[in-house]
Amino acid sequence: MNINRNYLNLQDSYLFARIAKSVNEFKAQNPDKKVISLGIGDVTLPLSKSVIAALSAATLEMGNAETFKGYGDYEGYAFLRKAFCDYYAGKGLTLELDEIFVSDGAKSDVGNMLDIFSEDNTVLIPDPVYPVYVDTNIMAGRNIVYMDANDGNSFKPLPDKNVKADIIYLCSPNNPTGAVYNKAELALWVEYALENDAVILFDSAYEAFVCDKSLPTSIYQIDRAEQCAIEFCSLSKTAGFTGTRCGFTIIPKALTRSGESLNRLWLRRQSTKFNGVPYIIQRGAEAVFSPEGLAEARASVAYYMDNARVIADTLTKLGIEFTGGHNAPYVWLKCPDGLSSWEFFDKLLTKMNIVGTPGAGFGKNGEGNFRLSAFGNRDNVAEAMKRLEENL
Ligand code: MLT
Repeated sequence: MNINRNYLNLQDSYLFARIAKSVNEFKAQNPDKKVISLGIGDVTLPLSKSVIAALSAATLEMGNAETFKGYGDYEGYAFLRKAFCDYYAGKGLTLELDEIFVSDGAKSDVGNMLDIFSEDNTVLIPDPVYPVYVDTNIMAGRNIVYMDANDGNSFKPLPDKNVKADIIYLCSPNNPTGAVYNKAELALWVEYALENDAVILFDSAYEAFVCDKSLPTSIYQIDRAEQCAIEFCSLSKTAGFTGTRCGFTIIPKALTRSGESLNRLWLRRQSTKFNGVPYIIQRGAEAVFSPEGLAEARASVAYYMDNARVIADTLTKLGIEFTGGHNAPYVWLKCPDGLSSWEFFDKLLTKMNIVGTPGAGFGKNGEGNFRLSAFGNRDNVAEAMKRLEENL
């Protein structure tokens, strides 16, 4: 037998697993120190009242023979897909129920979606980027072409007509840089994809953090995107579902390649490999889109964006250059004193007991940069910023 040798081309461990290991070792050696995490983008506010009420009611239903549910629909329950459709209607977009697939979060689907594409496709990935896009393509042995995201293009690379790609990953608001494409820029990507018969995999996990109303929160707000784009959405950051796990993926029926509907191929894939998100969780997710649920979700997004402002104010005071933090929950800063991003990681952890994410973990262009997440608890964020001010 042979193993999948592509795995040998991966880095030893997943970025956030590597960081967690270093942090756990540090904590074990320094049990008296209070370590504050502004590293992995993990939420700290609890689930909202509406979500908890829905989860509780659904749990009781599962204990009653009349209302008990076994296997659900492979695409997700219609009540939840309808709630997603209504949410998109609020963005001025019309979706049909069968264009939506309930998922256990964007991370799984951005990787799993590759199952329906040929392994000889060329993939275009920004650098720096959320490491899952790169790792899942390395696992499949695909040819990856990187596009530079840097100060020169405000971390928003645009299409290059000389580069031919079949699959394009875009994440806006961006993880890790916080950059957000405007409509004109996204329109260039749609045009490129249509000209090249390519498919855009659009990760909109952070759409709820866009405050500037002129910026797009879905790629389908761009003309003809339904002919070339798949969109991945998540409740992880929007409604605190990082541990609860629920998201959705949109594959328009207008999206065909090689004469085949990608929506149909994905349904075929999902019905074979996925038995869906638990009923209880789907009821909790539905509650996010009730009027009260939406108001609660907006309040938690506002809380995290206030954290981002606290971080941004501190960096400004310290004269440290940064981007992000305005329409995104990540602040992307230049490491001070010419430190490499892992050196700065070590300094923050050992001297200030703060965890962040080294830019180099997101790709070579991330070197010399560092990501701070705004998902912390307010007091911890304030305390971390005080430590920064005292030590930098
Ligand atoms: C991050 O910190 O980049 C995210 O939390 C990772 C994820 O969403 O999987």
